[in-house]
This record gives sequence, structure tokens and C-alpha cells, in this order.
Amino acid sequence: MTRIAVVQTNPELGNIPLNVRRAVELIASMEADLYVLPELCNTGYNFADRREVDRLAEPPDGFTFRAMTEIAAKTKARIVYGFAEKSDALYNSAALVGPAGIIGLYRKVHLYARETLFFTPGNLGFPVFDLPFGRLGIMICFDWYYPESARTLALKNAQIIAHPSNLVMPHCPDAMIVRCLENRVFAATADRVGTEKRGVTELTYIGKSEIVDPDGGVLIRMDQEEVGIRVVEVDLKTALKKKINRYNDLIAGRRPGEYGW
Ligand code: ACM
Repeated sequence: MTRIAVVQTNPELGNIPLNVRRAVELIASMEADLYVLPELCNTGYNFADRREVDRLAEPPDGFTFRAMTEIAAKTKARIVYGFAEKSDALYNSAALVGPAGIIGLYRKVHLYARETLFFTPGNLGFPVFDLPFGRLGIMICFDWYYPESARTLALKNAQIIAHPSNLVMPHCPDAMIVRCLENRVFAATADRVGTEKRGVTELTYIGKSEIVDPDGGVLIRMDQEEVGIRVVEVDLKTALKKKINRYNDLIAGRRPGEYGW
């Protein structure tokens, strides 16, 4: 069995040391094998302009990475967290770290709304990572709107999708039930709460972090306001079984030749 945690936060825009300290405290408060944190959990989300993102973004081995690796070593866990990445360009990224440091990186492919002004679309595809407890894939927030994201990860045999998010539309928590059902995978969507007002742009985040199983069962769903952490124990092997009855294997039963795209 594997203990999966979703961490729901309310970051203060631009206050990286505070946001990271609070996230680390939540991780330390409850044992798990995998912790999933929200999108851009170190910086906040509603940036004023690209210059602000450039000032707050970090290289993959920056301050946030060092803090997350330190708590991963203490807890012997794996952690997926969203951060603003500064490399050859600015990316809305998620890192996967473990006790020995970086395991992998994902850069958000489908940018949402004003993110398109600040970030370059991801160029690492949808990678999967083999961990001691199973195969993990990553997608970020608005990627849920494109069924190709979760499907691509499922076709690469991901058993669980870590899904750091900053949700502003109401549909995702229910849509993820379908993503899990149609791919027979687990998903851990870690969202944030709170409101960020910058000039005329005000965003309220819906919380409702959740963990969904391959049958579409909602194992945990947090509320719209709480800051905290929830853990559930799951058998990730369930996600390897794609048959829904003796006749239908959801993945083997695909008919790509008939789709014409
Ligand atoms: C989103 O992709 N943060 C809505």
C-alpha cells in the first residue's frame, strides 16, 4: 500500500521563504510516501507582469528545490511541487524530488489565460517516473482540460498522476473523476485556496484538492477554504488492470485507426 498526500495551501504572492516554510511544515505534519503540492506553490499565481515572474522564478536547483529535498530526505518521501522555473526560458514547472535530490521535471504544456503572457509552453512532453511504489506521471492544472494529457500518461503506464493545480474554474474536481475512470489511473490534484487581486485581475481559487481512484471513486476531497494536508492509503497495482469486464480492456480496446487524428 502507498500513502498519498495532497497539500492544500494559501501562498502569499511573492513571499517565497514564507510559502516554502509553510509547505514544509504541512509535509512534516503527516507521514506519506508521496506528497503533491499545488502549482506555483512557492510564488503564488496572479503575477502582475512578466518582469515579476522573471524576478521570482528559480532554477531547478534553487531555494525551493533545496528546502523540498531536505524535507524529502527527512521523511524518506517523494514530493511533487509546482514552481516558476527560470532556465533557458520561464516555465510553469513541477519538480519531482526524493531523498537523494531531483528525480524529474515537468513543464506545463497547456498554459491558461494570462500564463500565456508570462511563460513558455512546456517542451518536455508528459514524462513518467518509476518510483519504489509505482510509476508516476505529472501534469499541471489546466492540462486537465485536454484529455490527451492524462491519456498520454496512461499510455505510458502511469499508475498515478500528480496534478499540482491553482484552479479558478469549477469543473476540474468532477472532470478528474472522468480522467481517472477513462484511463483507470489514480490522480492526486493538489490545489490552493484564497484570493489574489492584482490591478483589475482578481482570482479566487477553489481548493477542493482531491485523490481519485481508477474506478472514479473520490477518496478525499478537501473544501474550498481549508489549508492543510490529507493522506490516503491506496493500492497502486489497481491502476495496472485496465479491464472493466471480461470483454473490455480500456486501453487495448482503443481504435486509433478509426479516430482519424
Ligand atoms: C490553471 O491552469 N492554473 C487554471
